[in-house]
Amino acid sequence: MTQDLLEVRNLVKKFPLRGGFEVSAVNGVSFSIAPGESVGLVGESGSGKSTLGMLITRLTSVSSGQILFAGDDITQLPEAKMRRLRSDIQIVFQDPWGALNPRMTVGHALGEPLLLHSTLSASERDKAVKELAARVHLPSSLLLRFPHELSGGQLQRISIARAIATKPRLLVLDEPTSSLDLSVRAGILAVLDDIRKETGVATLLISHDLETVELMTDRVLVLYLGRIVEQGETQGIFAKPVHPYTQTLLSANLPADPEASLHRYAAHGEIPSPINLPPGCLFASRCPLARADCGIQAPNLLPVNAQDSGRQQHAAACIRIADGSNWLAPA
Ligand SMILES: Nc1ncnc2c1ncn2[C@@H]1O[C@H](COP(=O)(O)OP(=O)(O)O)[C@@H](O)[C@H]1O
Ligand SMILES: [Mg+2]
Repeated sequence: MTQDLLEVRNLVKKFPLRGGFEVSAVNGVSFSIAPGESVGLVGESGSGKSTLGMLITRLTSVSSGQILFAGDDITQLPEAKMRRLRSDIQIVFQDPWGALNPRMTVGHALGEPLLLHSTLSASERDKAVKELAARVHLPSSLLLRFPHELSGGQLQRISIARAIATKPRLLVLDEPTSSLDLSVRAGILAVLDDIRKETGVATLLISHDLETVELMTDRVLVLYLGRIVEQGETQGIFAKPVHPYTQTLLSANLPADPEASLHRYAAHGEIPSPINLPPGCLFASRCPLARADCGIQAPNLLPVNAQDSGRQQHAAACIRIADGSNWLAPA
């Protein structure tokens, strides 16, 4: 069995608010990513996807739980040891305009991580910067320009090139195409896919664009209010989502076969406040299949098929799996 590249155990992130309140953004998340694996993270806005990305990249501190990278505990790494990690784990954000220094040419911005994390000479760095630009299909003439002279798509290509400059082993992509015109999205995704195949970098693709996740990932995690409600191979989940939340999330994407039509229903009811989460299943207040006992205890992630095992295992956190009752919506 290959060693995990990343393993997170029972990760919790609470943001303190004034008056002693706190926002529970991530509420006990555990998963792992293998070297070279492409994992999707989906869930509606506010479900904690970006917070999870920031935790993994250590851009925000952990409230509790553990993060292991290549077997090393990086949960509380001192700043001095962070440098190495910064080159191993990189993140690309949704907004390429905010990600680059407006007063620095994009070529300079691309050379910066090499200056920090490598021992390349100035001319070697120059060459590496041109290679990075070529990697994301940008002409090297653009390297002398400033960010405001580039389009959103070109800037996002620069952000991607910058993220891979240090040859990271894990790349977190937080909605990398969501702020871009539809017409340039496919090109960016193709670049990301090529980079993944050529470099073997593992990726965590955060996206609310389900089509992209279906296309780009091997495995998917479905997040709802900071908890994983379903996980498994992307194809399996998209073909046959089991958790009522995933079913509502995917209902627009479901195939038009008669069985699937059983899953085609909408969530109703109020989404609980992350400042005051209820006991039990967090989806119960909106779930068309909720029963009285859903509000008592939070369901654990359990295998959907008892014979499945390992990382690819399809699992969901729903009381109907625990007690073996039918989880399909009534017709
Ligand atoms: N810095 C912060 N301070 C307080 N609350 C935050 C902060 N960042 C995120 N949150 C809250 O945490 C929850 C998850 O947010 P986020 O991770 O951005 O979700 P997503 O990326 O899935 O839309 C939301 O309720 C959000 O309002
Ligand atoms: Mg987000």
